[in-house]
Amino acid sequence: MLTIAFINLKPGTGKTTSAVWLAHAFHARGLRPFLADADPGASSLRWSDLADGFPFPVAGLPVKDLHRRVGDFARGCDVAIVDVPQVEDHAGIARSAMRWAREIVIPVAPAGVELDRMGPIKGEIEDMAAVRADEARACVLLNRVVTNAASGPAARKVLTDLGHDVLSTTVPRLELYSQSFGGPVSAVGTAYDELATELLARDGAGR
Ligand SMILES: Nc1ncnc2c1ncn2[C@@H]1O[C@H](COP(=O)(O)OP(=O)(O)OP(=O)(O)O)[C@@H](O)[C@H]1O
Ligand SMILES: [Mg+2]
Repeated sequence: MLTIAFINLKPGTGKTTSAVWLAHAFHARGLRPFLADADPGASSLRWSDLADGFPFPVAGLPVKDLHRRVGDFARGCDVAIVDVPQVEDHAGIARSAMRWAREIVIPVAPAGVELDRMGPIKGEIEDMAAVRADEARACVLLNRVVTNAASGPAARKVLTDLGHDVLSTTVPRLELYSQSFGGPVSAVGTAYDELATELLARDGAGR
């Protein structure tokens, strides 16, 4: 099973939007996703409620021993995705998710204030890597990227130079995403479809 956690130090970086859209992208291609909402704010759960349920299982797991519990919930699924609360306020839950996920995805916008917090998050991931039995991968997902602006490529260069593995998929800043909370999601042909392809390829390649 592919296990993915959306993590950031800060709130409001696109974790919930990415977790929900990516789960739909996997579902649309015939895989069985499980979505865990580990945020006590419960936005993913609320979204699924407002949308009259998602076409795959969703559960609230805002607990510090998520790494021990999530496997039971995700039994029989092909991919498990966790929407993790911001590390700065919920370190216990976030560290538990970082212990569990094989792929840690850090959604970041090409804005100085978000790029500035990438140093500490790298440190957090390295700390958790030390207590894991197996190796995890971590990557950056540039999102809320303004198409044809210089900020996206510039952020990619800054992050790559800092040693981050920046995914080639970028998620544009669009009303499609900012207005999507609470409604049904159709991910086919979107950037999240591309993200699903890229994450499966990384998993297959073991990197
Ligand atoms: N690609 C995008 N284009 C435009 N707006 C976006 C995009 N992705 C997310 N947003 C918007 O950015 C805001 C933050 O996104 P989201 O709620 O997914 O972040 P979060 O990290 O889960 O936040 P929180 O820490 O509060 O749980 C939301 O208003 C969302 O609609
Ligand atoms: Mg959220």
